[in-house]
Amino acid sequence: MKVLLVGNGGREHALARALVRTSNAEHPVQLSVQAGNPGLETLGDSFAFTATEPDEVLALAKAHGVELVVVGPEAPLVAGVADALIAAGIPCFGPTSDAARLEASKSFAKDVMAEAGVATARSFTCRNMNEVDTAFQELGAPHVVKDDALAAGKGVVVTHNVEEARAHAKSCLEREDGAVVIEDYLDGPEVSLFCLCDGTSVVPLVPAQDFKRAGDANSGPNTGGMGAYSPLPWLDEGVVEEVVRSVAQPTVNAMAKRNTPFVGLLYCGLAMTSRGIRVVEFNVRFGDPETQVVLERLDSPLVELLHAAATGTLDQVPAPQWSTDAAVTVVMASGGYPGPSDTGHEITGIDKAEAIPGIHVIQAGTSRKTVSPEGALVPAGSGPEAKEILVNSGGRVLNVVGRAATVQAARALAYEGVKQISFAGEHHRSDIATWPAELDLSVGSDLKN
Ligand code: GLY
Repeated sequence: MKVLLVGNGGREHALARALVRTSNAEHPVQLSVQAGNPGLETLGDSFAFTATEPDEVLALAKAHGVELVVVGPEAPLVAGVADALIAAGIPCFGPTSDAARLEASKSFAKDVMAEAGVATARSFTCRNMNEVDTAFQELGAPHVVKDDALAAGKGVVVTHNVEEARAHAKSCLEREDGAVVIEDYLDGPEVSLFCLCDGTSVVPLVPAQDFKRAGDANSGPNTGGMGAYSPLPWLDEGVVEEVVRSVAQPTVNAMAKRNTPFVGLLYCGLAMTSRGIRVVEFNVRFGDPETQVVLERLDSPLVELLHAAATGTLDQVPAPQWSTDAAVTVVMASGGYPGPSDTGHEITGIDKAEAIPGIHVIQAGTSRKTVSPEGALVPAGSGPEAKEILVNSGGRVLNVVGRAATVQAARALAYEGVKQISFAGEHHRSDIATWPAELDLSVGSDLKN
């Protein structure tokens, strides 16, 4: 099957790896990818295009006879890439822009959850500071303030400090049509559960846990995610079934009832609270870096599942098969991340890491540069003495993945891989895949530090 993968970050490198790794004679994959990620580019034919321009994606898909488009990030979905493809009769794994509002608008997601009877934090959507102050009084501390709109991982502040909470709310409200959602604080560890959806049916993948704070012991600012692992040995067995029954299926039903059927990946961000499972957030795409560990454990063809979701036939394909192996990923980030990142430094050691059985490296924020023997940047093709090097070009640069029989062994491998790799300014957490017995991973657990 000819597949076009939209997006060129770490999540897409992991998706491409899983599409290729799990393909077989019955489910072959001929992959086209978006240019810009040297690791991803090794797995398919690469094309330069703007992911958020529906017409560009459609033209490329038509020109190459693509039979399935898989959209990685949320921004192209919000921009209407799936709408354009569906209108042209090309199956797309990813929701329409209307359905993508489950991620693009926190207040929309809350409305759908209320309609579907899904348990989540009590909340108020506020459009001015008077409403914000009333919500703070009603809900009390700690204050949870969420930008209503997409904010690239920077939209949420959890704090006891009311002035800090007010300042974040104010900055969100300053934007035209700005709104904030103020909600109750949820205790308990977080779990990410990804569900494939075809508008009607829901097929859960295996759960994972993400580490959102930049520093060890959940210190420092929020990030897109500094590492993840799967399986979660501490999680009750029935949780996945319970989340499908009480969260994902009712949400998919509610979206269908609104005539905006949800097709694609429903990312259920959950808190295992003392009062039961609560939804922290929905996203409409695979999580990053959880995908790097979840899909590493998939044994059956990913392309079959994604195509079935895109064509409304999930109930007609076999359920995903999973390895009992564990996978752990550690994110190596640029100096300064999650603030402005210090980029352009040579990365060395990926080959050494990947020479160790059980380790592979997903590239997220890398690019190639051509340099002279003295190390100065020169144009590509500048003669035989020039050489190509790999440099860091984003905040999260590499995801080192270890795979082994247990979480502890996979964790040891991932950190062995990290040790082999270096670039100036690099930082990573050293406590990924230690779980609640050792580390408090409650939502907003930084509040106790
Ligand atoms: N790892 C969190 C996210 O993908 O949103």
